Amino acid sequence: MAEQATPTTGREWQLAARPNGWPQPTDFALVEAPVRQPGPGQILVRNDYLSVDPYMRGRMNDVKSYVPPFQLGQTMDGGAVGHVVASAAEGFEVGDAVLHGLGWREYATLDAKHAVKVDAELAPLSYYLGVLGMPGLTAYAGLLEVASFKEGDTVFVSGAAGAVGSLVGQFARLKGAKQVIGSAGSAQKVATLVDGYGFDSAFNYKDAPVREQLAAAAPDGIDVYFDNVGGDHLEAAIGALNVHGRVTLCGAIAQYNDTAAPAGPRNLALAIGKRLRLQGMLVNDHTALKGQFLAETAGWLKSGELRYDETVVDGVENTVDAFIGLLGGANTGKMVVRLTH
Ligand SMILES: NC(=O)c1ccc[n+]([C@@H]2O[C@H](COP(=O)([O-])OP(=O)(O)OC[C@H]3O[C@@H](n4cnc5c(N)ncnc54)[C@H](OP(=O)(O)O)[C@@H]3O)[C@@H](O)[C@H]2O)c1
Repeated sequence: MAEQATPTTGREWQLAARPNGWPQPTDFALVEAPVRQPGPGQILVRNDYLSVDPYMRGRMNDVKSYVPPFQLGQTMDGGAVGHVVASAAEGFEVGDAVLHGLGWREYATLDAKHAVKVDAELAPLSYYLGVLGMPGLTAYAGLLEVASFKEGDTVFVSGAAGAVGSLVGQFARLKGAKQVIGSAGSAQKVATLVDGYGFDSAFNYKDAPVREQLAAAAPDGIDVYFDNVGGDHLEAAIGALNVHGRVTLCGAIAQYNDTAAPAGPRNLALAIGKRLRLQGMLVNDHTALKGQFLAETAGWLKSGELRYDETVVDGVENTVDAFIGLLGGANTGKMVVRLTH
């Protein structure tokens, strides 16, 4: 077995209590756990970047969903990228960069078949958690496959300054949208949407009702709505959609911390006369598109036509702050945690 010197323990985040409403730092515990040497077919990875994502909030509830809930007193998991520091698996060498699913910790021991080698020369490692990873594929598949985007469409995306939303708007622009409109939660983010990502217009959903701001931005209506938020955003979009409009139901972050029944949409019956299509999506259904997505997206990054931002929080001890910050809008682009060893 090939290996580098590794410490005997590493820090890991466990779920200490199930959050009720907004997660609190006391719902989590940072523990020192033994670092396990890899058995046959396994690798030991020193994580360099951890991903925090909105879907993790759902896993903190004890409910049946498309991913199992985190267990109390157990180390949480999620996307991570790092370097192999010990290998007992064929095809994996010490020093290889890998993407895998055992985040929320400094060191991960896992079956090599659950790791994917990534090219650190092609792009910074953290990009495999964002623009070249799960959020990127979500944006690409959600726009092109689920919403059946076509050239000349007017597209509205909410959560537009985040990891998925910033890419949806730019993919729509690059694919020939007539108009791209975005909403986000601060004046600075709104400026970035227009000046940085090339959206045609954008608004701060906290300034005035979404319905009014969307109507002003899209007097001729919209053809596609990419929903990251739900609630009043979805209701406003249903009102603004043109006949045969399409909606990708990707996320509903406005209600992830709700303790009461969620708001609307109250105008769903409009979908009948307008013959709207509202379709939920899960990124894992779209892996067949991965090759095309990676080739096209890497090309746009290289040519400079696609801008990608990250908000980087340093230190494993700050992972919970990064996660809670993400839910509150502390990020522009993808929120990641950088570990230094
Ligand atoms: N279906 C799938 O397969 C799939 C895969 C990936 C992601 N998603 C979903 O896609 C959405 C975006 O994910 P992401 O990873 O790209 O996260 P993100 O957009 O980078 O971060 C979350 C953002 O949500 C916004 N937000 C928080 N509360 C809000 C509220 N009440 N109203 C409006 N906006 C609010 C914040 O920005 P502001 O400052 O603008 O408020 C925050 O930055 C999430 O809903 C997520 O669950 C779904």
